[in-house]
Amino acid sequence: MKRNTPLFNGILRHIKQKKVGFHMPGHKGGLGLADDFKAYMPLLDVTETLGMDNLHFPQGEILKLQQKAAEVFGGDTSFILVNGSTCGIHAMMLAACRPGDKIIISRDCHRSVLSAVVLAGLRPVYITPSFIEEYGITGCCTPDQVRQALAMHPDARAVLVTYPNYYGLCGYLRDIADTVHLYGKLLLVDGAHGAHLGLSPNLPEDIASCGADMWVSSIHKTLNGLNQTALLHVKGHRVDVDRLCTMVSMVQTTSPSYILMSSIDLAVDKIAREGEGMMQILLEKVKLLRRGLEGIEGLKVLGREMAGRFGVCALDPTKVTVKTGDIMTGYQMEEQLWHKWGISVELSAPNHLMLLTTVFDDFDMYGYTVDAFRKVVGKYGSRPGDGAGCPAAVADFYTTLPAMGEGIMPPRQAVLGPTTAVPIHQSAGRVSAALVSVYPPGIPLLCPGEVVTRDGIEYIEYIKKTGGSIVGLRAEEELLVVNDR
Ligand SMILES: Cc1ncc(COP(=O)(O)O)c(C=O)c1O
Repeated sequence: MKRNTPLFNGILRHIKQKKVGFHMPGHKGGLGLADDFKAYMPLLDVTETLGMDNLHFPQGEILKLQQKAAEVFGGDTSFILVNGSTCGIHAMMLAACRPGDKIIISRDCHRSVLSAVVLAGLRPVYITPSFIEEYGITGCCTPDQVRQALAMHPDARAVLVTYPNYYGLCGYLRDIADTVHLYGKLLLVDGAHGAHLGLSPNLPEDIASCGADMWVSSIHKTLNGLNQTALLHVKGHRVDVDRLCTMVSMVQTTSPSYILMSSIDLAVDKIAREGEGMMQILLEKVKLLRRGLEGIEGLKVLGREMAGRFGVCALDPTKVTVKTGDIMTGYQMEEQLWHKWGISVELSAPNHLMLLTTVFDDFDMYGYTVDAFRKVVGKYGSRPGDGAGCPAAVADFYTTLPAMGEGIMPPRQAVLGPTTAVPIHQSAGRVSAALVSVYPPGIPLLCPGEVVTRDGIEYIEYIKKTGGSIVGLRAEEELLVVNDR
């Protein structure tokens, strides 16, 4: 019988079409993977037999790797993660808080933060960062917002912020850390996108230097680990490391992949030996890529002019956010780039798309990429809306995110209690039992325990209409709500 492998075949089709990928994983189709790692990969898939160290009780090679990772990334203790930053976020929130505790969270958080709120039975207090209308993205929460939240909620156990955000925007983390510590609380940082920050003084300050107590960083996003690889770091005296160790073990598989773990080993080593030099080259090449894209009439590139506004202290330039909205939606531009040019991007949205660059890029393709953008803009830019496959630029972009619904039930109770599914357009006024977000970036629009608002429903419809994807709804456009009737 012929084999029937839809996923495998789909991936083969995808890689045949792809000329250049500006997305995770950061090893860029294997360019950042060592030859011997690739050659030995099937044999590296071993397990905890005699002589192999155990992730859940490391005493040998895994322990050494964790110690080295702490040294390289500036922590006191580090943990290998094989289920992404996601499980590290779960572990640090479980470790920092007890059931029923309040935690202050910047609302631009990733959905994994909300799942941790549910798993740990926490009461979230949100800080809403400002919104950058021109790009339709959030800025960063400010030290003042953190101070106010702490003053209003002195019983909160910890504060969690994202640094950098998906677009490379970094807030005033050092000041936030000082504020949090002044109130005697813990600062947890979702640094999923920040593993590379320590590699150059021309990048935003790295998380360890800013004074976080615990943070995660994905090795697969901006460095050369395989997908799912990440690290959790702890620094200072405030965290109960034994408790954290228990939580890390609880959220990880008992059959961790040694392929993933050795990919972390090789990534940490490569970065320690060659990272700075490689980053210097990337920063020079990215400057040219940015300049090329900025030179195309009708496009705009998110740049360092953001610093000092919207709570932003600095921008990581390796994330290249291109505003396409004066010509076409980001989704349309993504389609053009992919189908005609084999260029695959990290993220697209109603009025922009984002290219993720890493030190493992094939820099020869940057010129090709600028050319592709120029040709697409040249073809459609002057006549948006003429029916030639490029509908009108979306003039009515949202200039703000929908207001959050009131949180009237603990998220854990909303998710785990009795629920019922209702059509999304009939859900206003009900209490959401689901976590709904635009993906990527995965920032929650609707959180469990919050009242669904008309604004929220309209925003979801708008994202779908412009071509984005929503995660968290059921098929048939249904939303799971608390069954309170
Ligand atoms: C801000 C942020 N935090 C956490 C995560 C989860 O990271 P991982 O995919 O490594 O689990 C993501 C994923 O994209 C993210 O964007």
